[in-house]
Amino acid sequence: MNSQKTVLVTGGGSGIGKEICKRFYKEGYQLVVISLDADELNTLQEELSSLNMPNSQPVHCLPLDLTGSNATRNVGAFCDKIHCDIDILINNAGFGLHDKHSDLNLDQVNAMLHLNILAVSGLCHLFANRMLQSKTSTPKTIINIGSTSAFQPIPMLAAYAASKAFVVSFTEALSVELKDDGIDVHCVCPGTTKTPFLDVAGLSDNTKFGSTAYIAHKIAMSPKDVANLAFNVVGSKYITAVPGLVNKLHYQMTHWLPNIIVQPVVNRLFNR
Ligand SMILES: NC(=O)c1ccc[n+]([C@@H]2O[C@H](COP(=O)([O-])OP(=O)(O)OC[C@H]3O[C@@H](n4cnc5c(N)ncnc54)[C@H](OP(=O)(O)O)[C@@H]3O)[C@@H](O)[C@H]2O)c1
Repeated sequence: MNSQKTVLVTGGGSGIGKEICKRFYKEGYQLVVISLDADELNTLQEELSSLNMPNSQPVHCLPLDLTGSNATRNVGAFCDKIHCDIDILINNAGFGLHDKHSDLNLDQVNAMLHLNILAVSGLCHLFANRMLQSKTSTPKTIINIGSTSAFQPIPMLAAYAASKAFVVSFTEALSVELKDDGIDVHCVCPGTTKTPFLDVAGLSDNTKFGSTAYIAHKIAMSPKDVANLAFNVVGSKYITAVPGLVNKLHYQMTHWLPNIIVQPVVNRLFNR
């Protein structure tokens, strides 16, 4: 246990982010949690305090829309106000939109791209600089939550999959840039996971056998398992880490098989 360390988690009010908060809290970390919904943050705080940790580390919550102008600056100002030096940044907040791109609401698409791409880039920029200037000697880590959807273009999830391809590519390059500065950078790429994400994306559970939503719900893994990987990746040699056997196979196939074989299968699976 290391009670000195502080982890900042975006999107910590729900799903994978909430499980990540619980996992790190149980290991003695202080938390800074950012999410849209203040009620969800209050619930998280109550659940964490009911764990009765011996040191009852502080949990600082900031309800904030990360797509708002000045969001990155507001996060920095909040950390200054509470005097928190961030040891681990976890960019987890994100959402998807499932439909033909031309049928989606463009304002929603732009908000998704802002959250999944610009907020990740902005917070990595802010905290990489702060970590470089930090006076504490504790190891520093950045973890970005990608997705298996990053591994190939996906019809009906075109903009979302492309936004996660940005996250993986950006993270892998950042890990090289910051290696000699002592900042470890990792990308955790879950496949479909049992969280509100699927409903938000427009992939509600339904019984239409073989539909994308049907398959997504059938093979979804638990957010706890994804959170465990996010915890275990700290200090590991893995840059891109993929939880679960099915997702690992997916990663290997899209990396080693030629696109001419992979893409028609993906197009068939998702374009319906
Ligand atoms: N679940 C999956 O199948 C799956 C698969 C692969 C990758 N992922 C990735 O995993 C990450 C976490 O998703 P999840 O499955 O845990 O979904 P989730 O339960 O819907 O959680 C998303 C979190 O992001 C927050 N958020 C959304 N918009 C925001 C904004 N504008 N500003 C600040 N916070 C915002 C949400 O806050 P509110 O709850 O207050 O709205 C929520 O806490 C995402 O990056 C997602 O792309 C998920």
